[in-house]
Parts: sequence; C-alpha cells; structure tokens
Amino acid sequence: MRQAGRYLPEYRALRAKAGEFLNLVYTPELASEVTLQPVRRFGFDAAILFSDILVIPQALGQTVTFAAGEGPRLDPIADAKAMRRIAGEADQKVLAPIYETVRLVKAALDPRTALLGFCGAPWTVATYMIAGQGTPDQAPARLFAYREPQAFAGLIDLLVEASAGYLVRQLQAGADAVQIFDTWAGVLPPEEFARWCIAPARQIIAKVRARIPAAKIIGFPRGAGALLARYVEDVPVDAVGLDWTVDRGFARERIQSRMPVQGNLDPLVLVAGGAALDRAVDDVLDAFAAKPFIFNLGHGIVPETPLAHVEQMLARIRGKQPGR
Ligand code: CP3
Repeated sequence: MRQAGRYLPEYRALRAKAGEFLNLVYTPELASEVTLQPVRRFGFDAAILFSDILVIPQALGQTVTFAAGEGPRLDPIADAKAMRRIAGEADQKVLAPIYETVRLVKAALDPRTALLGFCGAPWTVATYMIAGQGTPDQAPARLFAYREPQAFAGLIDLLVEASAGYLVRQLQAGADAVQIFDTWAGVLPPEEFARWCIAPARQIIAKVRARIPAAKIIGFPRGAGALLARYVEDVPVDAVGLDWTVDRGFARERIQSRMPVQGNLDPLVLVAGGAALDRAVDDVLDAFAAKPFIFNLGHGIVPETPLAHVEQMLARIRGKQPGR
C-alpha cells in the first residue's frame, strides 16, 4: 500500500519534475515509472498502480486538487441540491490515461510480478466528496447520510457504477487483481457499515464479475474491527487486507480460515526500526505465514520511513520464508 510514496528519493525527484501530484497520475509515462520504482529497488512480488482514489470524483465532474502538504481539496457537497453538480456517469476521457498506465506497467513488468489495480470504496470516496477534504471522523458524510438518506444512496449508487466500470477497465488493461480501499469503514455503526460498506462492495463485485467472471478482488475495510467477520461472510472478495489494529488471533481463526489475508504490520514500527521492527515482523509471520498470506503493511507507508528499515524488514521476511 502506498509503496510508491514519498519515502523514495526517486519518487520525490520525479514528483518535483512533474509539479502537481495529479500531473503524475494523469501522465502514463510518469505514472508507470513511479509504479515500477519500488519494484525495481526492492524486488517486490507485486506492484500497485500509481493513481489515487479521487480520480473518480474528478471523472464525475468534481474539482479535485492536492494542495502541497495539505492533502486533497474538492468542492464540497453541502446538501442534496449540490448533488446536481455531479455527473450521472464517469467521463472515461478523464480516466483513459490511467488505463494506459496499466498497459505500460504490465508490458514492463516481469510476468511473475503481479500488478494490482484499485479504487476507493463508495463510502470512503463519498466522505471526501461531501466534506471536500479529509476529516478526522468523517462527520460531514455521516451527518449527510442520516439527514438525506435518499440523496446519499443516490451518490453511493453512482459511485458503485463508476467504480465497477473503472475496475473492469483496469482488469481489461492488464491488472492481475484489484483492491477496494475502504479507508473510513471504521467510523460507522454496524447497521450503517452494512448499508454503506458491505452492500456497495457486494454490488461492485457482482458488476465486475458479470463482465469478468474470474476477476480477483481484495477488500480493505480499514478499522472494521470485529465487523471484519461480517465483511468476509457477506462480501465475496478473494482476499482481505487487515489494518494494523486487527487482532491476529481473531483474524487467523475467523478470517484466514475463509480466505487469504494481507497485512498487517504497523507502518510506524517500520519508521521505528530496530528490535521492535524485527519482533513485529516475526509476530505477523508467526500469525499468518502457515496459510495463504500476503505480507504487507496495515496501511500506507509513512513518508519519513528510512529506506534501511524497509531493507531490514525484507531481509527478515525473506530469511524466514526463502523462495517466497
Ligand atoms: O502506493 C501507491 O502510492 C499507490 C497509489 C495510491 C495513492 N493513493 C497515491 C498517493 C493509492 C493506492 C492511494 C489510495 C488512496 N488515496 C486512499 C486509500 C488508501 C489509504 O491510504 O487510505 C485514500 C484515502 C486516498 C486519498 C488521498 N490521496 C489522501 C488523503 C492523500 C494525501 C495523503 C497525505 O498524507 O498527504 C493523497 C495523496 C497521495 N496519493 C499521495 C500518493 C503517493 C501523496 C502525494 C504526494 O504528495 O506526492
């Protein structure tokens, strides 16, 4: 996750040349180069497409910018009336460069290295569309969903349709699997989680598999906690990403017994390094490595992460899992 991020000097150099973050995303030659950088440096088993979840709001006609050091900014959707500014379907002209990036990366990658595409889950994307920025607790979207349930359901339906089409096109362009990032799944009570996280994920998957029956799909409902059990029961994903707060005993018994898991090293222990990092890597491997498992962080890599700690982590994993 976020492997191509700001911790790599070669990323920072390209980013400085490209200027705006979205320039990188919408220029296939640059985006494919950024996608390949971490694979070249570290020999990872998979690459993740360099893009962002907020290209979908942009394709739906919302203005998206990334202010330096401040994260994303969108023109917020204050009420049901403001929803009229949102287009009925995604403009594929906006998204076309991203499919081209997938094709370029696929052509450049060793066939043994998997390429992951992705989208944001409707709930998470809607939180940014409504608030116009990241917020600590997603209060604007939660309030909107309670006050204007019909308008909110309309927005989620739009996002389901746009996201499914977007994933289908990434898979057709060469992605080996796709991941649905529900970064803000953890702020909802169980009933709302079922309505705004589980149901839309099911719909997206049904739509994708109607076009590509063998599509491989990973879910990532961050912060779902005990609701993860419900997520894997109700959402037909092929694998699930675990954030770093998930109890590994619970996950082994209730989640990994059903499907492969991905995760879940705390990104901050990778910043800390040293004996704490070795211990944490061992804990993850001891919990999950006996069954189908993708070693990963429990969320995005932190820009301050020292490269030496990434090397330390990989040496430890590869030392314990030779050939994997
Ligand atoms: O490994 C990768 O870099 C893959 C590409 C990727 C990015 N964003 C690039 C990015 C992926 C998979 C994402 C997903 C994403 N984007 C999510 C879901 C996963 C998660 O991390 O929770 C979310 C919520 C977003 C929205 C987003 N994009 C935010 C909140 C920010 C600002 C983050 C910050 O810390 O400032 C971004 C910007 C962004 N997306 C960067 C990158 C590499 C940083 C851009 C830069 O300044 O160079």
